[in-house]
Amino acid sequence: MKVLVVGSGAREHAIVRSLVKDQVVDAVIAAPGNPGIDGLALSEPLADVTDSAEVLAIAQRHGVDLVIIGPEAPLVAGVADVLRDSGIDVFGPSAEAARLEGSKAFAKDVMSAADVPTGLAHVCTTIEQVIDAMDALGAPHVIKEDGLAAGKGVVVTDDRDAALAHAEACLAKEGGSVVVEEFLDGPEISLFVLSDGVTVLPLSPAQDFKRVGDDDAGPNTGGMGAYSPLGWAPEGLASDLVARVAQPTIDEMRRRGTPFVGVLFIGLAMTSRGPRVIEFNARFGDPETQVVLARLLTPLGGLLKAAATGRLDDYDRLRWADDHAVTVVVASHNYPGTPRTGDPIAGLEEVEGVPTAYVLHAGTTLDGDGRLVSSGGRVLSVVATGADLSQARERAYAAVELVELDGSHHRSDIALKASRDEIRVT
Ligand code: AMP
Ligand code: GLY
Repeated sequence: MKVLVVGSGAREHAIVRSLVKDQVVDAVIAAPGNPGIDGLALSEPLADVTDSAEVLAIAQRHGVDLVIIGPEAPLVAGVADVLRDSGIDVFGPSAEAARLEGSKAFAKDVMSAADVPTGLAHVCTTIEQVIDAMDALGAPHVIKEDGLAAGKGVVVTDDRDAALAHAEACLAKEGGSVVVEEFLDGPEISLFVLSDGVTVLPLSPAQDFKRVGDDDAGPNTGGMGAYSPLGWAPEGLASDLVARVAQPTIDEMRRRGTPFVGVLFIGLAMTSRGPRVIEFNARFGDPETQVVLARLLTPLGGLLKAAATGRLDDYDRLRWADDHAVTVVVASHNYPGTPRTGDPIAGLEEVEGVPTAYVLHAGTTLDGDGRLVSSGGRVLSVVATGADLSQARERAYAAVELVELDGSHHRSDIALKASRDEIRVT
């Protein structure tokens, strides 16, 4: 089987890394890929991942048997539809189904129809509506831009003026609307559920660290680190969430004539009143994928091909390594603000000396002299596994210390509370 992976981040690097280990996969093509992926797959230039015609041309030129679409933008733009219309198997939802991620208002509508537990929310198009909704729901205020925002469109704050300022900025955009949501307390989890449109199959839950700084200080980012599995989670959590969230959502999408084929990423808060969905995404999460795939023993290529072709019920369950995985994101100077780019990266070979550790590339490129330099906000995702979370953390951080990138920063508390058994679901 020949597989094309669309995207250029650490998530795609992790996917390619798993694919090349699958015996049914003969070749992997990445478009556009990144310097880390280059050693594993054939990279094809792709200036714009939402360019359906170009993705189709690459898929046809290589005669691929499966296309895996990593990021949300091409899904929302309908790249999967164009490929499917040409008879190519795709892991990734149609534009209609990707609205579960592309529009928070649409996601709320589907959750309501499917009776999925989520926070109370008001969709607002004027600042007066926002004020009414904030008064009705109280502080802390949760204001979400109603569109794709790379994890940065959400403001959670006790500061009423800051909440209003964010709402005004979102509403000022063309056709802008915001969702004002009830504050959901409790630990957050990320659960990925594969679907072929009918059958669903959960992966192992993970936890992401959204804020830029230790102890959840500072603004939201795309994610600064993750770990899996969640030793503190209630027994049977994944199957419970399949029954209460994933299957009803997939059923509702099929009922609407827009079946969801791909991975439904369920972001939840484990509140005192039970799990509540915070968001749906229509793709694998980044950096959670890095830790989930680090432990998946079931070969990935065959699995995603089955999801793409309506054969997920061939799989009863997935196989997982017994160990724990941690990833720490190394970010460039000033991320999540406008990141500084072009800084040389060194020390990656030294990481190979740390047991189980490896580096996945996210925002890297080769400069004119062939040197590896930073090219984005999240630059690297350093992964390690261990017999327990403490060992996985020690190894991941030992590896991070070897990475040299001027001005970079990372969180030092990824998986720390979980490793000390300090997370409680009330
Ligand atoms: P989202 O883009 O919806 O995932 O939101 C990004 C982050 O904002 C989430 O991971 C949470 O940390 C936080 N957040 C979003 N919605 C809520 C909510 N209703 N209550 C508390 N925190 C939230
Ligand atoms: N790590 C969260 C996301 O991928 O949206």
